[in-house]
Amino acid sequence: MYGRVTGVTVLGVGGHLVTVEAFVGRGLPALTFTGLPGAAVNDARDRIRPAVENSGLEWPLRRVVVNLAPGNLRKEGAGMDLPIAVSVLGATAQVPARALTGVAFSGELSLKGELLPTPGILSVAISAARAGIGAVVVPYANAMEAAQVDGLTVVAAGTLAEVAGFLKGTWKPPTVERHRPPATPATALDLAEMRGQHQARRALEVAAAGGHNLLMVGAPGAGKTMLARRLPTILPELSRDEALEVTQIHSVAGLLRGEGLLRQRPFRAPHHSVSVAGLLGGGAALLRPGEVSLADHGVLFLDEFNEFRRDALEGLRQPLEDGRVVLTRAVGSVEFPARFTLVAAANPCPCGYDGDTRRRCTCRPDRIQSYRAKLSGPLLDRIDLRLRIPRLTKEELLGSEPGEASGVVRARVHEARERQRTRLVGLGVTCNAHLPGPLARREARLDAAAERLLERAVESMALSGRGFDRGLKVARTVADLEGAQTVSETHLAEALSYRIGFGEQEGLERAG
Ligand SMILES: Nc1ncnc2c1ncn2[C@@H]1O[C@H](COP(=O)(O)OP(=O)(O)OP(=O)(O)O)[C@@H](O)[C@H]1O
Ligand SMILES: [Mg+2]
Ligand SMILES: [Zn+2]
Repeated sequence: MYGRVTGVTVLGVGGHLVTVEAFVGRGLPALTFTGLPGAAVNDARDRIRPAVENSGLEWPLRRVVVNLAPGNLRKEGAGMDLPIAVSVLGATAQVPARALTGVAFSGELSLKGELLPTPGILSVAISAARAGIGAVVVPYANAMEAAQVDGLTVVAAGTLAEVAGFLKGTWKPPTVERHRPPATPATALDLAEMRGQHQARRALEVAAAGGHNLLMVGAPGAGKTMLARRLPTILPELSRDEALEVTQIHSVAGLLRGEGLLRQRPFRAPHHSVSVAGLLGGGAALLRPGEVSLADHGVLFLDEFNEFRRDALEGLRQPLEDGRVVLTRAVGSVEFPARFTLVAAANPCPCGYDGDTRRRCTCRPDRIQSYRAKLSGPLLDRIDLRLRIPRLTKEELLGSEPGEASGVVRARVHEARERQRTRLVGLGVTCNAHLPGPLARREARLDAAAERLLERAVESMALSGRGFDRGLKVARTVADLEGAQTVSETHLAEALSYRIGFGEQEGLERAG
């Protein structure tokens, strides 16, 4: 007695088809797996029999062997429950074998036989469609994810009994229609609420326009957090491909709440006590995406930047450079996308008032030194825009003049991004910040006066190779915001003004 169905295992964000074969033969009642079952699949051993029996179906009182192929691929995730259960139903002829071809199954089962919300269903659907499979059977709670994939019939079931009924032709699944949530920002935040802070608002716009990372240093209450939270309101809409990737990551993390496609750019603000695994991804058996991946195509906001653990901050270097993280464990390695804009905020010193014009800093110089040690070095080098945020004056705070609204800024950002997209086509990137370093100089297109300023700056500023490239990319973004073909002296001067240092690198601002 033999049954065969298709399941999908999700590693990282990628789905991999698994052929699940059940063989029911002579021997004492037992369920054994062969073919590299992971911890979560082994866990299913005790779950599947009660799930079948509590669904009005029969569990064979014989020896059941389930083989998972290909044998060299580790099978992870609770989504393997359903295909395993169905393979046994097939082997015992409780569902017709011909109904099991051309369809993939995924879903976690409860002991009662319910299909529970399961992480990674969007990845399951994408890989099934790619393999030419016409239909997927998934938990009702995840149906909207699967419905985002073109050319796929989605069978949404609430229980194993319904799945069996569907396969026998006695139960008709509900129709699943793809609904598209509006792309308008869900937050009520707007830059119009921000008074004054013209330089900071400008830097935020440049960051949004070119995808550049941003560090803000300033006194408590200066408005750093307020600014950072408004960055998503001026970012362009996600493209469909970006939205699919973002949704896949959130699906794998089990964070979707029945939404189909996430249309908002993510904004993640982990607390500074976050663990390395929480920030970068990890976990014991099943590797889960971390904050850097949940922020993919969006914003990763690290408030109180220098309070973060040093190893966590060090770990940001790879994703900042490559736009992805690779997690390696004994069980194997997986990769997650992690292309985000970093916004970091910090106070200039422990008391917060160093450099303030109206309040005295009470910190000892050596305390300031060690406090700033984290605001320097290789990570700082990867942050293109760095600025001091002054506290608002009394007049500014009391003034009633509203700031420019997010929608207006977003329109300019959109224009600048379109120019970049057109120019960078063929280079594999869509915005200036992601240009490979060696191409920065060629792509920047400096005019003669800008070339001369660049020469002077290289002499007077201790620019590193990376600092040099990054300065040029920001200059290119400033020019793109203006719709200029070439980078002028003014554009470059603005870009260089954002490369100030804190701590030991202080004083770099003199050149621009
Ligand atoms: N430019 C501004 N326009 C309007 N309100 C502001 C401005 N700056 C600050 N505020 C007000 O002050 C509050 C505190 O600002 P915010 O939390 O952004 O400060 P912060 O710089 O992050 O401070 P901390 O260093 O303590 O984290 C805001 O919620 C807002 O009400
Ligand atoms: Mg703050
Ligand atoms: Zn101080």
